[in-house]
Amino acid sequence: MNEKIVNLLAQMTIEEKIGQLIQVTGDFFQDGRSEITGPLGQNNQLSDELKYTIGSVLGTSGADDVSEIQKNYLARSRLKIPLLFMADIIHGYKTIFPIPLGLAATFDPEMMRTAAQVSAAEAAAGGVKVTFAPMTDLVRDPRWGRVMESTGEDPHLNAVMAAAAVKGFQGELPIDATHIAATVKHFAGYGAPEGGREYNTVDISEWRFRDQYLGAYQAAIAAQAKLVMTSFNTLFGVPATGNHYLMQTILRGELKFNGVLISDWNAIAELLAHGTAQDIESAAKKALAAGVDIDMMAFAYAGLLAKVDQLSDDILALIDLAVQRVLNLKDELGLFDDPYIGISKEKEGEPSITFAHEQQALKAAEASVVLVKNAKRTLPIQATQRVFLTGPTANTGDLLGSWSWQGDVSQTETLCHQLNRHVDYLSYLPGVAYHEDISTDWAAIKQHVASADVVVVALGLPSSESGEATSLSNPALPSQQVAFLKKIQALGKPIVTVVVTGRPLILSTVAQLSDALLISFFPGTKGAEALTNILLGKTEPTGRLPMTCPQNVGQIPLYYNDYNTGRPNQTTDGSGENRYMSKYLDVSNAPLFPFGFGLGYADIAIKQAKLVQTTFSVDDDIAVEVTLSNDAEIAGTTVLQCYTHQQVGETVRPRKELKWFKRLEVDAKQQRQVTICVPVNTLTNVHSDLTTHVDPGTYDIMVGLDSEHLHRLTCEIQPGKEHSDADN
Ligand code: GLC
Repeated sequence: MNEKIVNLLAQMTIEEKIGQLIQVTGDFFQDGRSEITGPLGQNNQLSDELKYTIGSVLGTSGADDVSEIQKNYLARSRLKIPLLFMADIIHGYKTIFPIPLGLAATFDPEMMRTAAQVSAAEAAAGGVKVTFAPMTDLVRDPRWGRVMESTGEDPHLNAVMAAAAVKGFQGELPIDATHIAATVKHFAGYGAPEGGREYNTVDISEWRFRDQYLGAYQAAIAAQAKLVMTSFNTLFGVPATGNHYLMQTILRGELKFNGVLISDWNAIAELLAHGTAQDIESAAKKALAAGVDIDMMAFAYAGLLAKVDQLSDDILALIDLAVQRVLNLKDELGLFDDPYIGISKEKEGEPSITFAHEQQALKAAEASVVLVKNAKRTLPIQATQRVFLTGPTANTGDLLGSWSWQGDVSQTETLCHQLNRHVDYLSYLPGVAYHEDISTDWAAIKQHVASADVVVVALGLPSSESGEATSLSNPALPSQQVAFLKKIQALGKPIVTVVVTGRPLILSTVAQLSDALLISFFPGTKGAEALTNILLGKTEPTGRLPMTCPQNVGQIPLYYNDYNTGRPNQTTDGSGENRYMSKYLDVSNAPLFPFGFGLGYADIAIKQAKLVQTTFSVDDDIAVEVTLSNDAEIAGTTVLQCYTHQQVGETVRPRKELKWFKRLEVDAKQQRQVTICVPVNTLTNVHSDLTTHVDPGTYDIMVGLDSEHLHRLTCEIQPGKEHSDADN
């Protein structure tokens, strides 16, 4: 802790210290211009005495607003400790990138880093110095609406993307005027609510939590994220926000996180609803003991002001520790030297900057779209073909997704607008709304279809049905949209279906009815242009599924890296039948579309995969030499993936674990040699005693262009000295 902080702390009254640990929305300082992202239980009145000791503000941005609040605040602050402005800059500020699930679909950490870096530059100019991102919660249940904010079902993809996001938001340390501090959230396990129901109980074993869920948080913290946010849910039977073991033993002890821990909105007060705190005072003390530094909108820490003379030395010491971390963060961000650091009305929305950012958003949007079906090479559409466009996402700017902050739907180009500029003949009728068949003039629609060569049916859900508090018991398209598609399909023309969504949906019927099917995870500001470029073949679809698409809701949770069980369904029970196997009577175990899957327009395949050597020690790298070939007349891009499987472990091991991936271009009619490198020390797994290390033994090494169609090799990991006895 530097001298400035020590001296400042020594001057602060207990009231001023507690004030630094309180976060409120901006409308406590100015009316109605703040983004409200949670329940407003409190009236927005604070005594002036308390108001001008508050430490941070959430949900306010904009050079003018932030500067005005900061100026007025500092004029009234005794010690001139600047306010810190925080906000949910998740996938863009003014220029909106694809939602994180879409950025994950690019399988390109550089895309994620760029999206974060551009978002940070725009948000910093708007006065925000902390973002509540990346959300690194592992999610295997598309019923949960915040899957849009995740990077999907795989621990490795999550970890790589989380670290890339932190690097993008923060840049090189110390964080400069054009970058912002990142917040790893939600610690921990928020993405595994029972039933996929928002805010519901999370009850996973500590073994599974450490083996599958902890890694991405750890990677983000290792990337030097400055903050962590607590999660609303319980974990190991205790709400995270008051969970001493989770926060002090694991987060601050094992992960060595010494930054600011902020509660989620009102989460401290919610310990009462959880039933683990008798009253708001004990909730505040539980959170302080767990190491929570900032109370977001619960006013639990504010409640301690009424009893400051009764606070124990332990609580006072915890308050001092929390204040140090908050002041340290403000100092690291340069706020003491310049409370207006980075704020620039000129830069905010500057056309040349926006143009450059939009080009980067276009590239990310194009790389995020996943082609899951293309029968009879229906795509790409030729510009000379006559196109009839219809459906609820055909002519809307609602392509930004949830948490799209200052993104402006009304200024976002629509697919109809973009297509109209690039095809010779385009006709359009809405046909069906999100939840309502509005094809009143069916004769007109039939006429349009009759005169078209191909029909583009743009379906999906609105941003309002994605994100926080939007769980769906059945993550499927509304029946009106599917019925409409069925009627269109019956007219006998080629059907290209585009689904704009914030989550994997149940698309079994939609896939059957479509000749080509594109999935676009809310593609952002340049989404329409990206989809048009893909539909017309100006660029090929190169996205891959970051989450499994189930056949039906009953299969959920369905994910590629599951365990074999004692009766895997691919064997028989001796009588040639496979009755007593792990399966359903009414649907296979297979997904509709698997993790890592996606088609392109070229014709890329793995010609050969071989191990350079087959025996390794823990310090070695497993090298796999792969020959890719492209038999098409056009260059193409694929995502080469490498999975491993530990054949025998002390605990069960996933049938496959992604350990390496890379987007790769292959020229037309060419082959390309690629060497995959998997360090053996990344093959760690958590044992039943919760220790983590690499086991010796036989491992499958599987190489593919998705998680199902794999070239299988095997290798031996020899015992390292430190483990040969331990494993006997
Ligand atoms: C919300 C979200 C959290 C967000 C916070 C502030 O409830 O759970 O992710 O950062 O409140 O908006």
